[in-house]
Amino acid sequence: MKLNFALILSIIVAVGLVAFGFTIFQSSNEKENLSNELRARTAQIAKEFFLNNLAYIESREPEKVRRFADSISNHYNLLGIAIYYNSDSVIASVPVVRSYLAYSSDYITRSINADTTAESFFNYKGRRIYQFIKPVNRNSLTGSVIVFYSDAQYIKNMISDIWMRNFVRWFIQALVISFVIILIIRWGIFRPINNIVNWAKAARAGNVEFLKRKPPARFLAPLHKEIISITKAMHEAKAVAEEEARLRTQAESVWTPERLKIEMESLLNGKKMVVVSNREPYMHIHSGREIKCIIPASGMITAMEPVLKACGGLWIASGTGDADKETVDDKNRLKVPPEEPSYTLRRMWLTKEEEDHFYYGFSNEGLWPLCHIAHTRPTFRKIDWDYYKKVNEDFAQAVLEETAGDDQPFVLIQDYHFALLPALIKKEKPNAKVALFWHIPWPNPESFGICPWQRDILTGMLGADLIGFHTQYHCNHFLETVNSSLEARVLWENFSVNRSGHTTMVKPFPISIAFTMRDYDDAVNRKDPALLLHRYNINTGYMGIGVDRIDYTKGIIEKFLAIERFLEKNPSYREQFTFVQIGAPSRTLIKTYSDMVNDVENEAERINGKFKSKNWKPILLLKHHHSHEEIAPFYASANLCMVTSLHDGMNLVAKEFVAARSQSDGVLILSRFAGASQEMQGAIIVNPYDIEKTADAIKAALEMPLEEQQFRMKQMRQSIVGNNIYFWAAKLLRTMAAIH
Ligand code: G6P
Repeated sequence: MKLNFALILSIIVAVGLVAFGFTIFQSSNEKENLSNELRARTAQIAKEFFLNNLAYIESREPEKVRRFADSISNHYNLLGIAIYYNSDSVIASVPVVRSYLAYSSDYITRSINADTTAESFFNYKGRRIYQFIKPVNRNSLTGSVIVFYSDAQYIKNMISDIWMRNFVRWFIQALVISFVIILIIRWGIFRPINNIVNWAKAARAGNVEFLKRKPPARFLAPLHKEIISITKAMHEAKAVAEEEARLRTQAESVWTPERLKIEMESLLNGKKMVVVSNREPYMHIHSGREIKCIIPASGMITAMEPVLKACGGLWIASGTGDADKETVDDKNRLKVPPEEPSYTLRRMWLTKEEEDHFYYGFSNEGLWPLCHIAHTRPTFRKIDWDYYKKVNEDFAQAVLEETAGDDQPFVLIQDYHFALLPALIKKEKPNAKVALFWHIPWPNPESFGICPWQRDILTGMLGADLIGFHTQYHCNHFLETVNSSLEARVLWENFSVNRSGHTTMVKPFPISIAFTMRDYDDAVNRKDPALLLHRYNINTGYMGIGVDRIDYTKGIIEKFLAIERFLEKNPSYREQFTFVQIGAPSRTLIKTYSDMVNDVENEAERINGKFKSKNWKPILLLKHHHSHEEIAPFYASANLCMVTSLHDGMNLVAKEFVAARSQSDGVLILSRFAGASQEMQGAIIVNPYDIEKTADAIKAALEMPLEEQQFRMKQMRQSIVGNNIYFWAAKLLRTMAAIH
């Protein structure tokens, strides 16, 4: 209230001062103009009078002169005329003129003495009068003057009018301004602030429904963002405390980042931990004039990043963002995550040729299709293999550089890009503890046997102390491959390989996500599907979600065919069910991948063309990179999630969807060819090649009773919590630490 009053008062005073100054100027100008006009007019009357009428004056006949003067004065609308012959002889046109003469005598004397005109304004009984005195230059009338009296009251009235009008104007302005200020303060400032305050209060009290309503205040957006972060941090802290209390009372063994950190400190015992991968966890790219930091779409990143975040350490990876070089120091390092730096990322720079042959060529046109049974033929070129060896050597050099002062560092190598790295590191640093985790499937020995350099690859891998796969099945395939192609002893009783005196353990470590039950509250992100898809002009009652890199192993086309079949078989779901496919374009410089992007687009278009109506279509393909925050509302609001990989090491999308469902509803449809299907017992397991059955699975998911959904979902959530990424890392590192 005080603020309102002070603001209004100061604005009114300021406007008032301006209006006052302006009125002074206007009124004095107006007064000057009107006075000049009156002077000129009276002088003109006098001139005309003198030209034609002096004969009357000279006659000196009082009655004749008076009548004549009266008629002239009426004609020109004067107050009166006085003919002054001398002080004893004055003729007045009307009697009142005699009273005016008292104000004229001085001027008359001055006019006679100086033989010139004189003029002045005077007030008579509250009336403003103008007098103009003109001497008569005739011998017969020497010493005579004629005085013309005009009414000047109107000038005073007009000036008062100006003041009055300007005052009224100022008053109205003041009223309008006050009203507008009150509106601005109430609706534009206090209301958004009150909204934010109420919203923050609700956040503190855990009122989720209220929390979902975001205050509509664009100018308060930065404050709003801060409050969200503070609220999040507060809730996280509260959840950690609750979780710890729960763990203490129930003596459960859920792995949390805090617990992993303590475990790692004791396992590493001061030794360095280095993670090596091709894909980096944070990529800087130019976006207009800004540099944006994005997290690439990669299951490997989803899994490994929380481990580094919890425990610190160094991560060596290729820098592939177009602004990556601008964001590192002179040692090609930077601290990440940007919002809360906790570990170091060291970027390696690949040349164009290295990228073409190491990354696109050998890794993704050779090993990727070799390991995935998805009916895409691997291509092996000698030049790709040469660059693969070269880049592995460069990364080995970087690891050795980074661990120079440490004889027994822990080196965690990620994926098929670095099959040769274990042996290269061990050769130079035999005491280093080296693990290689293979994030993709391992095929049977016959399939792998087509690789011209299979022996070199296996030898490189067996340099490691530990090789991890997602499943025992992949471990068995690997051991069989070693058995059939190398002179090495495979010890099936403890799943290890002994070669030239070095032992490599081969074990399953099903990878997972950073889920501890305290991370997600889907109510915050949950929306009605129609509301969520409103901006895409889609009105639907049910929604499905799929999140994949656009890759031929992901079975996206098969998924679309199943949706088509589902709508054919169940016409009542037309205009009722929309499937949102988030597809991150990937490795598009490889023809199979760019063809895949086109195929996926064409297939979505074809199916949409077949069923779509004005405000609905069955498939919404969102074909670009999405952040975790952008995906969250889709996970939280979908009725079902479909993972239809034709072959997949694990597939963390399946686990992310389950983790995002804190209300334990929703259904997961999962391919039996994804590693996750072995753990996610509550999912509807499908063979994605069987379009008919997958279509039926969609119907079953949409019609599953809520209790059954919750039973299945709770089972899966429990399984992920018990085997989360912190547990994965602890198990892997404990195994590494135990190796002598
Ligand atoms: C798979 C691999 C990862 C890889 C990811 C994305 O998940 O296991 O190592 O990072 O695909 O592929 P990209 O080629 O974009 O890194």
